Amino acid sequence: MPAPRSCTPLLQQDRLGNGDCTNQERLANGVCKKRDRPANGDCKNQDRLANGDCKNQLLARRQFILQHRKSLPIASVEKRLVEEVRNNDTLIIVGETGSGKTTQLPQFLYNAGFCYDEKVIGITQPRRVAAVTVAKRVAEECNVKLGEKVGYSIRFDDMTSNSTRIKYMTDGLLLREALLDPFLSRYSIVIVDEAHERTVHTDVLLGLLKKVQLARSKQHNIIKENANYRENSRSLSQGAKYTSLKLIIMSASLDAKCFSEYFGGAKAVHVQGRQYPVDVLYTYQPEPDYLDATLITIFQIHLEEGSGDILAFLTGQEEIESVERLVHERIRQLPERNQNLLTVPIYASLPSEQQMNAFKPAPSGFRKVILATNIAETSVTIPGIKYVIDPGLVKARSYNPVTGTESLIIIPVSKAQALQRSGRAGREGAGKCFRLYPENEFHKLIDSTVPEIKRCNLANVVLQLKTLGIDDIIGFDFMEKPSRMAIVKSLEQLFLLGALSDDYKLSNPVGHQMARLPLDPMYSKALILAVEFKCLEEMLIVVAMLSVESIFYFPREKMEEARTARKSFSSPEGDHITLVKVYRTSAECLEKSKITNGKEKSIEKKLNKWCRENYINYRSLRHARDIHSQIEGHIQQMGFSLSSCGDDMQQFRRCLTASFFLNAGMKQPDGSYRALASGQTVQVHPSSVLFRTKADCIIFNELVRTNQNYVRNVTRIDPLWLPELAPQYYAAHS
Ligand code: CDP
Ligand code: MG
Repeated sequence: MPAPRSCTPLLQQDRLGNGDCTNQERLANGVCKKRDRPANGDCKNQDRLANGDCKNQLLARRQFILQHRKSLPIASVEKRLVEEVRNNDTLIIVGETGSGKTTQLPQFLYNAGFCYDEKVIGITQPRRVAAVTVAKRVAEECNVKLGEKVGYSIRFDDMTSNSTRIKYMTDGLLLREALLDPFLSRYSIVIVDEAHERTVHTDVLLGLLKKVQLARSKQHNIIKENANYRENSRSLSQGAKYTSLKLIIMSASLDAKCFSEYFGGAKAVHVQGRQYPVDVLYTYQPEPDYLDATLITIFQIHLEEGSGDILAFLTGQEEIESVERLVHERIRQLPERNQNLLTVPIYASLPSEQQMNAFKPAPSGFRKVILATNIAETSVTIPGIKYVIDPGLVKARSYNPVTGTESLIIIPVSKAQALQRSGRAGREGAGKCFRLYPENEFHKLIDSTVPEIKRCNLANVVLQLKTLGIDDIIGFDFMEKPSRMAIVKSLEQLFLLGALSDDYKLSNPVGHQMARLPLDPMYSKALILAVEFKCLEEMLIVVAMLSVESIFYFPREKMEEARTARKSFSSPEGDHITLVKVYRTSAECLEKSKITNGKEKSIEKKLNKWCRENYINYRSLRHARDIHSQIEGHIQQMGFSLSSCGDDMQQFRRCLTASFFLNAGMKQPDGSYRALASGQTVQVHPSSVLFRTKADCIIFNELVRTNQNYVRNVTRIDPLWLPELAPQYYAAHS
């Protein structure tokens, strides 16, 4: 990559942001139709393909994929890699993004016979989207239906069968599997992909796999000895169950040393990538509004640079959707010949068929701008990118062990992340990266991201380790130990929630029940308590709705309309009941359209229309509906029966208090709140229905830190409920 140099991309383009385009407004109306046509045309072609009309095209596609596979850097080292895996129980593979690690290596190993005795090759990803998209791609490469030989399994969505041999999954999911199968006996190989991301699940998984690998090789040796001695067929078959476990750690970062040291000097091999030069451009000044700067840069590239798609890194779903809307508005103001720009969002909670849009080529004559979170840094490789826009920010979890609070904050990326991002522009040819900050800021960035385990609430991790029978959390062999205080705080939190008994062992039944639910411990507790409070139906809706980002959207330019639309659902008691109303009204809308028109597509269309009219985020609502049905499945398996509190919402609010008592706040004379557990001063977020009407006492679900501390998803409670419903905390603290 050439040395970074400065330029003035944003300054030149300021005029674009302002008056230049307004003349074009009259063109606005016909635009959408014109943009829709090529996209729809494309789908029709695909339908025809599926119907078998265009066999030649299918053959050509197969040929293309074959060629593509052969051309990947990893293809030339297939034999060597397979040999290394045979010779080493643990192997670290470092290779640049796009070299073919994730899609190709499992296929090499499958072909080399590592799926003996119906064993599975498991590949873990920190992100759901990567597991899904890669599994789809590999199924296509193998010419099999997804869910057969190649499948994926992520929380709330399992696409595997008994015949699955190459299984992509999230690292969190493999951790859950270990609860049921402590030896991970179905797997011959586990590949921990994207290890450089160092998510909390990756770190816990690495520690666990180290233990499992040791236990499996001990078992294997014992059984081998027995089998040699007795030639007993039964123990031979048990031997097959306990073959040693191969472990592969894959990473895009060049620093494999820490992984190697952790795994007792494990061998590391490097797969050469293919990287074309990327011209890195900086701004002269820091940009006060990075969304606006991103918008301006998108149009600067679109209007002034040659062909090639754009990848812009944003911090989350809300920011992506806001930029998406602004881009659409501005496209309408452009001359017709410049309107050939398509936006494609990609972020973790986007429904997977929509995530796949990022991988489809833009219709001919169009340029695609992909609006992504840091998901597109290394996890997924999107072809066709020539320009990268990097505002240099990322949304990250941050944990304060002293106050015990976790919050989401937007922070600068690390140098390693900035380099990964710019690298995305040079995958297929020379490219350009627009860093929306001055060059001297780059030098101030930290080298690599702090592992998540050092900046998150560990309650979930501790609960999982306890369930796996690992009681000494402080003594657990973490790759990087979280602070003692963070561990103690989470033990304390779990104890207060009733998940741990007096001797800090998993309690029965609550602790075990909580561990079975794939949710944050407080949410699991809320569901368990809701059985007692007879409001499980309502709590299930709330937990599903809180598991997705932003159900409501407030476009900057239509804030008032959005507020008015929300009023019809608003409950004076707060956001939780409001969410229940939204969910139920949307369910009624679905039911009605099912009765009048049974076709699935048109039912979805109606829901989409209803969402637009009510300023509800359709994607989020659909995701919440999926999560709802998945959790419902878990709850039924656990033998809980769904009950509703009907109109007695006080009962429901009491249940919220009994579960989220650690997130309670009392109003201060100046209208702010004091979070009772941490003592922090917080404000109710403007998106809350309680933003204007101030309740005396609240519980909340989320703390967001921007220029100040905001709490989101807030409900009014009676302060006397706290000592009554959470005496274990408030009696002791009052
Ligand atoms: O894991 P790594 O970053 O090394 O590469 P990969 O994910 O295996 O991707 C290898 C190549 O497959 C990429 O360069 C993409 O061109 C292609 N690919 C794709 O077209 N669609 C996907 N869903 C995944 C990969
Ligand atoms: Mg990869």
